[in-house]
Amino acid sequence: MENREWKMGRFVKVLSLVLVSLVLVFGTGIEADAKKKKKKKIELTAEETAMFDKWEVKPKKRAKTVKKMRKKPKFVGAVKCNGSCHDAYYQAWIKSPHGNTFNLLKAGIRKEAKERVKLDPEKDYTTTPLCLRCHTTGYRQKGGFKPAGSKSKKGKDTASKIDPEEPNKEQVGCEMCHSVAGGSQFRAVMKASKGNFTKAETEQYGQRWDYANVCTRCHTHKNTPFKPEVHDKYKFNFEERKLKVHKFEDYWNEDNADQKLEKKDERAKQVGQTEKTPLSIEDFRINDKGKLKFIKGTKPYNSKKKTFNYKK
Ligand code: HEC
Ligand code: HEC
Ligand code: HEC
Repeated sequence: MENREWKMGRFVKVLSLVLVSLVLVFGTGIEADAKKKKKKKIELTAEETAMFDKWEVKPKKRAKTVKKMRKKPKFVGAVKCNGSCHDAYYQAWIKSPHGNTFNLLKAGIRKEAKERVKLDPEKDYTTTPLCLRCHTTGYRQKGGFKPAGSKSKKGKDTASKIDPEEPNKEQVGCEMCHSVAGGSQFRAVMKASKGNFTKAETEQYGQRWDYANVCTRCHTHKNTPFKPEVHDKYKFNFEERKLKVHKFEDYWNEDNADQKLEKKDERAKQVGQTEKTPLSIEDFRINDKGKLKFIKGTKPYNSKKKTFNYKK
């Protein structure tokens, strides 16, 4: 009995020694948390403060919002643009040509058009990198569409989920025309300003207003199989075509009427930097391994340097 107590006492002593040394070496969790918090404190620039003043953003919300705005651009998908903000545009888009681009890659669809450009009408192209670049949203970019069969390094299935009832990243979504590299950050700007933003303000965070230019990411791009030489219908007239992009006027109703853009006409009078000096258009190739690679220096946004690239 005595022997046993002696053993227990010794065990407790050793245990506490171990614990004390652990604390000495690693510190208590409490200190570490305090350090983390100190590190994370966000200072707003004078510019950001002025913007938030103008938008009347509550002081308590500013740090959290600015953190979202400063993040690396990332594709979030059309469903996120719908959310509680752009229902009429989303409803119009799903009925528009760009809301149905993924299906064109399936076997047996638009046979004649495929045959004309020597594509195999019975082949499934829904995982073919070249096609995915122009028929989906953000393929091979941060947050962008991932086709069936995509896996993480550990072998986990990372393919984008496709819901036929709710078109999203698998089609040519909002971000392919409205962003340099995805809309996660300017979405935060729109929300914080409650729609009261200028073109310049969203441009800083990766929205683009060079519409006629951005169409050439796909239409008339040198890598598209569907060129005017093949058929007259592929000639691209911007003024005519832009009218068909999203006929949102037809989709206002009781539920979304409060989403009408009060500042739209005011914004239309502004000229954004991207309109003065259009952004560069990505060039890309398919490498030996069949992967799509963007050619260096042709992307409109350099995420390492955080700079925009304009056309030369
Ligand atoms: C560089 C961008 C680009 C690439 C790459 C691309 N497409 Fe397209 N595709 C387009 C554009 C733009 C249109 C619409 C052309 C138009 O109507 O003026 C289109 C239209 C189509 C159409 C409809 C044509 C019609 O007349 O009905 C099919 C089918 C199609 N693409 C399949 C494919 C397949 C399959 C691939 C891959 C082998 C592919 N595309 C690669 C941009 C591209
Ligand atoms: C194929 C390209 C394209 C796609 C895809 C697209 N848009 Fe647009 N969007 C445009 C163009 C072009 C205009 C300008 C139209 C004009 O000037 O008449 C525009 C204008 C807008 C405007 C008005 C902006 C302003 O303040 O003046 C909103 C809002 C908008 N789009 C939302 C969306 C949403 C939401 C989606 C996706 C559900 C979407 N767009 C998909 C090309 C596109
Ligand atoms: C990411 C690639 C991409 C971009 C960017 C893009 N388009 Fe398209 N567009 C397509 C594809 C693919 C189709 C084929 C849809 C089909 O045939 O059903 C298409 C079809 C269209 C059509 C329908 C043609 C028809 O008569 O059936 C119009 C209109 C159009 N685009 C306008 C525009 C405009 C305007 C812009 C720029 C503001 C633009 N697109 C930007 C890929 C793109």
